Amino acid sequence: MRSTLILLSFAILFVAFIDGAVKPVHSDKDVVPHEEQMLDVDTIFRALGVPYCMRKCIDPFINSTTSLWNMKNVVNQARKVCSQHAQAITCLKKEQFCDHLKIFSKASSSVEYMCATKHVLFERMESCLNPIVDDVMSTCDKECYSRSNLTAFAQDSNIKFAATVGGNAFIVADHLGDLCTSLQCTLPCVTKRLNNKCALSGWLSLDMLMQPFDAVSVMVEQLSPPLKDLIIKKIDKRCHFAINPNQLNRIRNGDFNAFNK
Ligand SMILES: *[C@@H]1O[C@H](CO)[C@@H](O)[C@H](O)[C@H]1NC(C)=O
Ligand SMILES: *[C@@H]1O[C@H](CO)[C@@H](O)[C@H](O)[C@H]1NC(C)=O
Repeated sequence: MRSTLILLSFAILFVAFIDGAVKPVHSDKDVVPHEEQMLDVDTIFRALGVPYCMRKCIDPFINSTTSLWNMKNVVNQARKVCSQHAQAITCLKKEQFCDHLKIFSKASSSVEYMCATKHVLFERMESCLNPIVDDVMSTCDKECYSRSNLTAFAQDSNIKFAATVGGNAFIVADHLGDLCTSLQCTLPCVTKRLNNKCALSGWLSLDMLMQPFDAVSVMVEQLSPPLKDLIIKKIDKRCHFAINPNQLNRIRNGDFNAFNK
């Protein structure tokens, strides 16, 4: 259950973030069709064993997050994401036997945070952010290979196997390393470049993107020591930062050396 939460956080973060980076790559538009992107997400969710009752509620939201970062009108897109997120939560509340409401709200806490807390700030930055977000995302994608790593991950035969057997969190955990390496590159890249173009917007984005990890690390801290050790052993070393509150805090404060202690 808990490892599913950790992995789902990764999935949502990557879907929201990387898929945004995928689409604005202008010249590659026709090379990677939309269907293939949706297929990637679908494979990843199936590999994680996300049940149908949950997919039914969260798919429209996941769909809307993919367009958040690449649209011309960031603020309107963000509004759509916020309303889809609220709808997903409402839908999950009705699914009495689909006990995934808490997992989803934790894993998507960055969205909640943006919608509830930081929306006004993003709105103020809208006119500055709108013209530059696409370029920043595609530059960082080229620098950090986030897109090709995500594609490679979804096309990995082990991940496909996990998807066909109805999900296996341990298989997925074993294969997160490259994605975490990419994330270690992408977060500083986006933060620095956004800050350069629109004062403070990089810090605001970083803060938002760190939220699901914070939620997960707090949960991991509260586990019994043996279970905590098991999770730390199972998750790839390159992903340890994502469940360590100390490292997360330093990263949030701009100390990007903290990814590797
Ligand atoms: C996803 O969004 C697109 C437009 O952004 C829409 O055409 C499509 O029907 C949506 N798919 C689902 C499953 O909601
Ligand atoms: C994954 O990303 C790393 C850099 O973070 C890069 O060196 C590697 O080539 C990428 N792998 C794929 C399959 O794109």
